[in-house]
Parts: sequence; C-alpha cells; structure tokens
Amino acid sequence: MSNPNSFDRSIKIAPSILAADFANFGQEIEAVEAQGADWIHVDVMDGHFVPNITFGPQTCSAIRPHIKSVMDVHLMIAPVDPYIEAFAEAGANFITAHLESGPHIHRTLQAIRGAGAKAGLALNPATPVEDVAYLLDMVDLVCIMTVNPGFGGQKFIHSQVEKTRKLRDLIGDRPIHIEIDGGVDPTTAPLVAAAGADVLVAGSAVFKGGSVQNPAPYGDNIAAIRKAAQAAQ
Ligand code: DX5
Ligand code: ZN
Repeated sequence: MSNPNSFDRSIKIAPSILAADFANFGQEIEAVEAQGADWIHVDVMDGHFVPNITFGPQTCSAIRPHIKSVMDVHLMIAPVDPYIEAFAEAGANFITAHLESGPHIHRTLQAIRGAGAKAGLALNPATPVEDVAYLLDMVDLVCIMTVNPGFGGQKFIHSQVEKTRKLRDLIGDRPIHIEIDGGVDPTTAPLVAAAGADVLVAGSAVFKGGSVQNPAPYGDNIAAIRKAAQAAQ
C-alpha cells in the first residue's frame, strides 16, 4: 500500500473495480487491499464521452471508507469541470481527466489541484504524447490508455509502449507518475515497466478466478503482475 503524498517510481498495482462485483464494492476493495493492491482505481463513465455508464460521486463517497490506500479516480466523462468538486469531496486522492474531454484541459487541471486533489491527465490511444508538453507542470500523473476507454477486458494496444517511452523522456526529473490503463497482465506489464511506467491498472487480470469468499487468487494475480513488471524495470 502506498501513500498518495510520497512520490517514487516503484511499481504500484492499481486494481480497477470495474472488474469487481458491483453489488459488493466495499468488500471487494478490502479483499484486494489485503491481497497486496497499492492503489484502488475507480472508473467513472458517463455514456457520452465513452459508450458505457458506471457510477458517479455518490458511489465514490460510499466506497471511500473501505479504501485504506490511494483512491485513484479516472473520469471518462465530458464535461469534467462541473463535477470536480464533487469527486474531490468524495475523497479522491487523484482525479484524472482526459485530454480529449474538452477544449480547456489546462483549466480542468488547475481546477483539480484547486479542489485539493492530485491532478491526472489521461491520453486516448490516438492522442500524440507531445500534446502533454505544456501541461507537465500542472500534473501529478499521466495515464496512457492502452485500450480505447469504455470497457474492461480489451486487448492491449502495443503501439502505446513506444508512447510510454517518449512520455518518460518528456517527464525527465519531474515527480509525475506514469500510469498504464487497459489490458495489463503479466505479459504486457513488463513492456510498459521497461518503458518507464510505475502505476499499472489492472481489472480483469486481478479479479479473475477470485471472489470475496476466495480472495487468494487476487493475491496471486497481483503478485504475478508485480513480479513481471519489477523484473523489467
Ligand atoms: C477502461 C478502464 C480500465 C479498465 C481496465 O476504460 O479505464 O481501467 O477497467 O480493465 P482491464 O484491465 O480489464 O483492461
Ligand atoms: Zn481506468
């Protein structure tokens, strides 16, 4: 488990509750944390920016007391700005908005930090990594989407490994996390870890085979991803 306020580039595994039992988020979160999760990744979808709907700030508030580690909220919504305050009040440590979510992402990032959260910037697979250049001093995390956002269980897009490497160069010494989201498993994790990523989101690869009643597979899955990534870092 890690502290949202300390920065390092060690590998952090962030299970996405998109792959958990939606009727039982509290216990699912407690189970993956007990099994070694470093952060909890919370996917918010609006059926407009992405073709799927999950939940909003009220669910985030409800699950917050179950998260001992870091609450990493990934907003796949447009517009973002009217909802930032609500997600900050819900207790998000990181609030990540998509660069593609509107014309004023600079303002959005300012508003996230202004609300007291750490600011994340997510890039869809087609977005050039150079687009982050004038935003790097305003972010605490950049999320490279290695699938098209909207659904769990999709295939990892390999072109994003080179993009991750370029992002690592652009970041230089700045204390900015590189997060990878989509299709992360023990086979793909080493590719992005070698390219410079430190936060690995994984939904299906963490929750497969386990349950609240039988949480040991969660631990095995997390350990397998971590081991593969650490060996490549
Ligand atoms: C996709 C979400 C991801 C997704 C990851 O839109 O942002 O967090 O749940 O799921 P897997 O690991 O199954 O690709
Ligand atoms: Zn996500």
